[in-house]
Amino acid sequence: MYRKSTKKILVTGATGQIGSELTLELRHKYGGENVIAAGHRRKPGERLVSSGPFEFIDVTKKDELEKIVKEYDIDTVYHLAAMLSATGEENPQQAWNVNMGSLYNVLEIAREHGLTRVFWPSSIAVFGPEAPRVKTPQNTVLIPKTMYGVTKVAGELLCNYYFLRYGVDVRSVRYPGIISSETPPGGGTTDYAVEIFYEAIKKKRYTCFLRADTVLPMMYMPDCIKAAINLMDADASRIKCRTSYNVAAISFSPAELVAEIKKHIPEFVCEYKPDFRQKIADSWPMTIDDCVAREDWGWNPEYDLASMTRDMIEKLKKRFAEGRL
Ligand SMILES: NC(=O)c1ccc[n+]([C@@H]2O[C@H](COP(=O)([O-])OP(=O)(O)OC[C@H]3O[C@@H](n4cnc5c(N)ncnc54)[C@H](O)[C@@H]3O)[C@@H](O)[C@H]2O)c1
Repeated sequence: MYRKSTKKILVTGATGQIGSELTLELRHKYGGENVIAAGHRRKPGERLVSSGPFEFIDVTKKDELEKIVKEYDIDTVYHLAAMLSATGEENPQQAWNVNMGSLYNVLEIAREHGLTRVFWPSSIAVFGPEAPRVKTPQNTVLIPKTMYGVTKVAGELLCNYYFLRYGVDVRSVRYPGIISSETPPGGGTTDYAVEIFYEAIKKKRYTCFLRADTVLPMMYMPDCIKAAINLMDADASRIKCRTSYNVAAISFSPAELVAEIKKHIPEFVCEYKPDFRQKIADSWPMTIDDCVAREDWGWNPEYDLASMTRDMIEKLKKRFAEGRL
């Protein structure tokens, strides 16, 4: 039987916060021409366009996705395109259409074209206030209060169904809030933990949209990328959970993050003006139990609050000095 020697990967949502960095890492690992970045509307960054193929597609349109899968002979999809928690609450109908419609399209294409593997990120937004908020376990009650969370729970069940019914090798992690210095986040409840660094460096002041004591689970981008790649590289026999794996890294409150930033920028001042996102944050876990991911495929994050803060400040200060912030 004919077998391709190299993976051909499609990344949807490639201009987003995670996609912009994950695409570059995948290109580094598999070769630029083997990783097709798919964006939507937003102008792609220079590195994304110069390091490999780039296409614009609307993931809610199956024919547009299918055209790229055929044209590039895609066998693996990292499906990141989505509407996040805060923007999803502003337009829940569109959040359902984008998040569920696109996942259904990707899974159907995986089934019809026999794709080798699909990665689709879920979120800690699957949990609601009924779930234990400390050390939230892998298997617990899932009653989210946002449309974003509803689409993530439904999405997890759909992934599990496509695996059981059709053998589609789809893999997923429940990401916490992702912190990164390259591409700003796209409208989530944990976005403060990125904005605060930009404002600390540019203005030495920040007004936080969550209360000072709101503890949420977070993860630094290198660990976020590591989780996706390690999960996708793992032997199929090790993937025992086909809904989505809890993955944890760091949990902290805005006040704790401010104290850490002040070690590097002592004059930094933070004020607090909670808005509608406070209610979303209050319905989410504070800490996550990820022992199942650690056991099954060896998940092990590297960054803690101190090392993440040091690295973020170093990277953003450099960009500020070069006039690129
Ligand atoms: N960033 C986080 O903190 C976080 C946490 C948990 C889960 N996740 C999940 O990770 C994935 C990526 O998140 P992100 O933070 O990079 O999000 P983002 O908002 O930065 O990027 C999402 C991308 O999806 C694209 N998109 C939206 N509608 C589209 C459409 N109809 N067709 C094609 N593309 C479309 C947007 O252009 C955007 O670039 C999402 O599934 C998200 O739910 C992210």
